[in-house]
Amino acid sequence: MAHPGNRWLLTKDLSGDTYDSRYDRRAAAGENVHGEADFVMRYAPTSVLDAGCGTGRVARELARRGVEVVGVDLDPDMLATARRRSPDLAWVEGDLAALDLGRTFDVATAAGNVMILLTPGTERSVMAVLTRHLRPGGRLIAGFQLGAGGVTLAEYDALAAEAGLGLEGRWSTWGQEPWHPDAGYAVSIHRLSTSAVDTPEDAPAVRDDPSPGRRGPGAAGRIPRA
Ligand SMILES: C[S@@+](CC[C@H](N)C(=O)[O-])C[C@H]1O[C@@H](n2cnc3c(N)ncnc32)[C@H](O)[C@@H]1O
Repeated sequence: MAHPGNRWLLTKDLSGDTYDSRYDRRAAAGENVHGEADFVMRYAPTSVLDAGCGTGRVARELARRGVEVVGVDLDPDMLATARRRSPDLAWVEGDLAALDLGRTFDVATAAGNVMILLTPGTERSVMAVLTRHLRPGGRLIAGFQLGAGGVTLAEYDALAAEAGLGLEGRWSTWGQEPWHPDAGYAVSIHRLSTSAVDTPEDAPAVRDDPSPGRRGPGAAGRIPRA
């Protein structure tokens, strides 16, 4: 196997085309399947790195809305669907733990549980890579299930802090349902400071939601070095 131990590759039970067809069917039935793109667009990015883009369903929708997107994934089968459906977009086969695109983005997004489907032990590297691909003031927006294995929320926050990202907001769904500690899912927005002299805590927040619980639990959690 090209990426031994990768949680996605080990657990995957469907092709890229089948993965996409499920969303296509839901969309055909009238469901809004673009909650992630809706959410990311709140930050009005001009460029987005779709980290773990899979079949490109989020990147495609962002591109349709005028955003410059680059999709990165390590699964050639998922990328084949992305390339077939949108040959005009930028798709890169690569491991997020060792990526260097030589550029930055307004937003890096990791939708669809990417952060809990990485190769165990690479989470710190992935966080560092994603942070390196953010412009000053750029945001990492990630949504993943809680309690499903892989990185915990406390570990995720600790890795983000270590990489220099400050927690800006947290929701329990892409549809912006308020965060609460019993939620089974978290959408987290972390932000890189706007300048080298800012601490992440100084970075301005775009949200005006003052709810004290929005930072969620475990912001001070620690994860041991691999
Ligand atoms: C459930 S899919 C989500 C795909 C897409 N983000 C979406 O929301 O539809 C998870 C994706 O993460 C990708 N992935 C997991 N570990 C990765 C890594 N280290 N580097 C790049 N992609 C990775 C998998 O290949 C898979 O396509």
